[in-house]
Amino acid sequence: MIIEMEQQQSMFLTPEAITREWVQPIDCRLGMAGVAEDSISLVLTDPPYFLDGMSNQWDHAKLRAKVKPGVVGGLPVGMKFDRRQGRELYDFLLPIATEWLRILKPGGFALVFSQARLAHHTAMALDDAGFEIRDMMAWRYEGQAKAFTHAHFVRRWDISESEKKKIISELQGRKTPQLKPQIEPIIMAQAPREGTFIDNWLKHRTGMIDTDNPLIMPGEFPGQVIPVPKPREKHGHMAVKPVDLLRHLIRIFSATGEETIVLDPFTGTGSTGVAAIMEKRGFMGFEINEAMADIANKRIANSIGNSDVSS
Ligand SMILES: C[S@@+](CC[C@H](N)C(=O)[O-])C[C@H]1O[C@@H](n2cnc3c(N)ncnc32)[C@H](O)[C@@H]1O
Repeated sequence: MIIEMEQQQSMFLTPEAITREWVQPIDCRLGMAGVAEDSISLVLTDPPYFLDGMSNQWDHAKLRAKVKPGVVGGLPVGMKFDRRQGRELYDFLLPIATEWLRILKPGGFALVFSQARLAHHTAMALDDAGFEIRDMMAWRYEGQAKAFTHAHFVRRWDISESEKKKIISELQGRKTPQLKPQIEPIIMAQAPREGTFIDNWLKHRTGMIDTDNPLIMPGEFPGQVIPVPKPREKHGHMAVKPVDLLRHLIRIFSATGEETIVLDPFTGTGSTGVAAIMEKRGFMGFEINEAMADIANKRIANSIGNSDVSS
C-alpha cells in the first residue's frame, strides 16, 4: 500500500499500468485498526461535517440527486441549522482522533478541516482525545453568499398591502444569519512530543514545521490564512480540496521522504494522496465509498511523475 516511488517508476512504463492501491475502500475505523502504532507522520484530512446527509453515511449518488445548483432539500448545502450536527460530529470524531493518536508518531500533526460553525466540535474531539491544539489555520477562498430575505413570507400574510409594505421596508437588507463563506478552518493539533522539540525531531522527524519552503505565498513566513482558489475539477465529488493547499500543508508539517507517511482516512477523490506523491511523501488512505476510492487510486497513480496536476 505504501509506495516506494523509484521502484514503482522503474517497474511500470505508464501511470495507467500502476495497479498498487494507496486507498483502501473501507471504513477508516476498520482500516486504521490494522495500522501500526507510531507509524504515521502526518494526518491530513477533511472528514464529513455531518451536514445535510454529508456524514459517515455519505451517499454520493443520493446527494447529487438532491442537489440542484447548490441546494439540498430546498436549502443551500450546509445551511440546515441543527444543534445535533455538532454533537454528532464530536461523537464521530472522538474515537477516530483517539486512534490517530495511537498511530501517529510522537509530535506528529493532525490537520483537520472543519466548517466555521462546527470547528469548536472538531477541536474539542481532538483535545479530548489527547492532542494539543496548537493553532488554527484557514483556507481562504471566495464562496457565494447564501442568506435569505424573508419578504416573500410577509407578502403571503393576510394583512393589508400598506402593512406589508411597511414590514418589508422595516426588513430591508435584513437576511438570515449566514455570512458569505470565505474561510474553511483547519484545526492544527499535535500529538504529545517525546522529550524536547530537538529530541523529538531527531528521533521521529516530526513536531517542527518547515518555515523555509511554503508553496503558497513563497518567501513569506507560513501564516494562518492560506489563500487558494477553489478547484475547478470536482472529480464527481461535492467537497474536493485544492491540491496546492494540501501540498502547502504537507511541505510545512511533514519531513520530505517516502518513509514519511501521510494518512488521509477520509480520502474522497484522493486530493491528499496526489499532494503527498507530488511532495515525495508516502501516502495511505481510506474511503468508505468504493467508486470514490477507485477514482482516488487512479488520480494518485496519474500524479506519479506529473508535476502539473494541481487542480
Ligand atoms: C469531505 S469528503 C473528502 C474530500 C477530499 N478531501 C477530496 O478532496 O476529494 C469526506 C469523504 O469521507 C468519506 N467517508 C465518510 N465516512 C467515512 C468512513 N467512516 N471511513 C472512510 N471514509 C468515509 C466520504 O465518502 C467522503 O468521500
